[in-house]
Amino acid sequence: MPGPSRPSSGPLVGLPLLEDLPELDGRRVLVRVDFNVPLAQDPRGGVVVTDDFRIRAALPTLSWLSERGAAVTACTHLGRPKGTVDPRFDVAPVRDRLAVLAPGVALLENLRFDPGEEGDDPAFVDRLVDGFDAYVNDAFGASHRPHASIVGPPARLPSAAGRLLAREVEVLGGLLATPARPFVTLVGGSKVGDKLGVLQALLALVDRMAVGGGMAFTFLAAQGHTVGASLLDAGRIDSCAKLLEQAGDRIILPTDIVALGPGGTAGPGVPGSGEARIMGTDLPRGWRGLDIGPETAGVFADAVAGSGTVFWNGPMGVFEDERFAAGTRTVARAVAESPGFTVVGGGDSVAALDQLGLAAQVGYVSTGGGASLDLLEHGDLPGLQALRHASNAPKAGA
Ligand code: 3PG
Ligand code: MG
Repeated sequence: MPGPSRPSSGPLVGLPLLEDLPELDGRRVLVRVDFNVPLAQDPRGGVVVTDDFRIRAALPTLSWLSERGAAVTACTHLGRPKGTVDPRFDVAPVRDRLAVLAPGVALLENLRFDPGEEGDDPAFVDRLVDGFDAYVNDAFGASHRPHASIVGPPARLPSAAGRLLAREVEVLGGLLATPARPFVTLVGGSKVGDKLGVLQALLALVDRMAVGGGMAFTFLAAQGHTVGASLLDAGRIDSCAKLLEQAGDRIILPTDIVALGPGGTAGPGVPGSGEARIMGTDLPRGWRGLDIGPETAGVFADAVAGSGTVFWNGPMGVFEDERFAAGTRTVARAVAESPGFTVVGGGDSVAALDQLGLAAQVGYVSTGGGASLDLLEHGDLPGLQALRHASNAPKAGA
């Protein structure tokens, strides 16, 4: 795989790349990866990795280093064990999978077993880098976290962005720089509070923004609709109203909803109960909107079909429940079939694409959820800033 070319603008500028590392033969290299992958009980016993996308995505970097004679040690967080050793977040299943995909690459224990990781404790960084000659960050999905293993090592060791990190930054940075028009974004998922900043930033970039998923109800409430028992962030209604005021002509909201009747259950792993019905945008008391309706899905799909660039983050509904999967499915198909350059980020949207066997038809599938949103919102990430300050980083203008 050829190295990325050196750009003259955008977030890749000033980043040290693998080629900027000193001689690696016989040297020890610490690679921060994001192997925060889903695990499940194996019916045959033990715990296994159920989706190794993030592990496979780091292989080009791991093999590049190994081929140059480096002894490679990877390190990752897994879940949120909150600074204590918690066997549920043991990386052993990840290590097993890595041993198959990248034999010879070692994997340290879960970084978040130590409170020094999230606390960015300098003593923890010192222990982490002890004995290593170089550091590589290939953990795009975690580079929005100012944690010890992300921001600490570049101040202590010659450092580089791995191939995955560089590619992610190149693609997402490209969305910020020169996207083919029209640029359409589809946003979903449940939490509007987490995403207001990025929605604001995206509205400055895109021609149209389609809003689905649980977050749509706070927007619908801002328009005066009754949302029944749907997810609602009451404290954010004013902010949503402001966005609609500023850019309402470019925001596409649902015009119909698939809702679940009072007392019904839905979600992953539960056999759902209750009546599911297609409704308009005013839901009666007790009804919970759990998917965009067919008319909305068609409108979103049309927007995508006519676009030059698409960025999709977040499912349109509770797609793990077949009754509320159609909206996400229609959108996923439209993204896969779009003639434009399509980028999908976020575990749930990627899982939906995988479920439909459509991931290969998307232009770029990001390994980052929060990280891809943060990069689009801020144009930079703590992990990238740290790399630019490494002693071996290319000097400005070089
Ligand atoms: C992710 O899965 O989004 C990344 O690995 C970051 O994990 P975090 O949200 O627990 O920091
Ligand atoms: Mg996350």
